Amino acid sequence: MRIDILTVVPELLESPLGHSIVKRSQNKGFVEIHTHNIRDYAKGSYRQVDDYPFGGEAGMVLMIEPIYTLIERLKSERSYDEIIYMSPDGERFNQKTANHLSTFENLIILCGHYKGVDHRIREHLITKEISIGDYVLSGGELAAAVVIDTIARVVPGVISDETSALSDSFQDNLLAPPVYTRPAEFNGWRVPDVLLSGNPKEIDKWKEEQAFERTKQLRPDLLDE
Ligand code: ADE
Repeated sequence: MRIDILTVVPELLESPLGHSIVKRSQNKGFVEIHTHNIRDYAKGSYRQVDDYPFGGEAGMVLMIEPIYTLIERLKSERSYDEIIYMSPDGERFNQKTANHLSTFENLIILCGHYKGVDHRIREHLITKEISIGDYVLSGGELAAAVVIDTIARVVPGVISDETSALSDSFQDNLLAPPVYTRPAEFNGWRVPDVLLSGNPKEIDKWKEEQAFERTKQLRPDLLDE
């Protein structure tokens, strides 16, 4: 799949997209990520991308022209399944949305900054708005990084042990069971005996029970869904 990210602060995305599984997903050729600086599409020697809001509120608003030019250029090159705007007003992001987005071929993700983008962009160009939670970030970049990381790990083939992404918390609306590694005993704190038993059937049963119990205790709302 291909993801085009539109931002006025591309630097904010460099590290989150350049390491770990997101990097591996690109190196292996499963995910292609292109970051575009909106400023490159702005006019004039100042390459202005933002302006004061009509109506006299505080803060600056990202202008429609450079974003329109960039989106139209991308759309002339390929068709996009969704043109997403990262916003606290958007639909709340969760694992189900990530799984669904991971099945698409081409996505555009627009990151707002300052007070947001000229509303005409949201009315006429955006097909979906996503929020990562009820709080306001300084821009959509970190939210976009969260969305892309979550998508990349469920793209088939990205995680070599295929069952690993499927056993993440929230797949099947259950939290993941606890995990342990060596040493089997530290400071008198022992790993549960069943995990050392070598009995795969018993181990699977224990994991299922733990996932259910932890979900019941920590996130009972997930069991109602
Ligand atoms: N931009 C600013 N805050 C955001 C949020 N909570 N989710 C997505 N994009 C945002």
